[in-house]
Amino acid sequence: MLAIIGGSGLNQFPELRITKERFFSTPYGDCSAPLTFAEIESEGKINSIIFLPRHGKGHRLPPHLINYRANLWALKEAGVTRILAINAVGGMGVGMGPGAFVVPHQLIDYTWGREHSFNFAADGYVNHIDFTQPYSARMRELLIKALNSAGLPFHPQAVYGCTQGPRLETAAEIQRLIRDGCDLVGMTAMPEASLARELGMEYASLCLVVNWAAGLADQELSLDEMMRVLAAGISDIKKAIFIFAKTTI
Ligand code: HPA
Repeated sequence: MLAIIGGSGLNQFPELRITKERFFSTPYGDCSAPLTFAEIESEGKINSIIFLPRHGKGHRLPPHLINYRANLWALKEAGVTRILAINAVGGMGVGMGPGAFVVPHQLIDYTWGREHSFNFAADGYVNHIDFTQPYSARMRELLIKALNSAGLPFHPQAVYGCTQGPRLETAAEIQRLIRDGCDLVGMTAMPEASLARELGMEYASLCLVVNWAAGLADQELSLDEMMRVLAAGISDIKKAIFIFAKTTI
């Protein structure tokens, strides 16, 4: 089963044909919101997908306070095998300005202090997952196909740098990320992507750039302006999600 983890701007998805909502309590605590189960029809067949708003229903959870472990555990328990994550990001790469859609292929983790693994000594085993390719190649391919069918221009690869937040970066931090090879900066890809891998779920991300990263544009960063770009891009994101969901079930 496919799950969509919605990011900023995608806290609700009323266009889905919702069948039920179920709250999951996990050994790691509560997930961001009840899981929304919905039906999607493809070639006469009806299939279920799950929607989870990462920041909670009213967008009340900042990136560093999201219980990523509970979210991923709940999705696994619900029978999810594949996750499409939606992330709002800042852009640094060539052409990756506000409004750009990007399918990252790599990431660098700059977060700290987040509960980032299900593997602790008490479990009695050591699990070093292979994370060479953090995103599922198969899902990225299908996502790229869906974006092409939706007629949306997009960048088919990028390195996503995940910062701790919730503050935005300094101009010097962004220059360091650029030197490191990052094209995008966001706060929510990690540990979400690696927890999905630990639980054996395929994971890919569709990013919407909502601002040039700190220091790259003339103006100061404005949350209102980011929200405006996000609102303008959300219907295209939903279009891509529907096509993707229909081609992958
Ligand atoms: N930095 C980090 N996270 C973000 C940004 C940014 O500039 N824009 C949206 N999410």
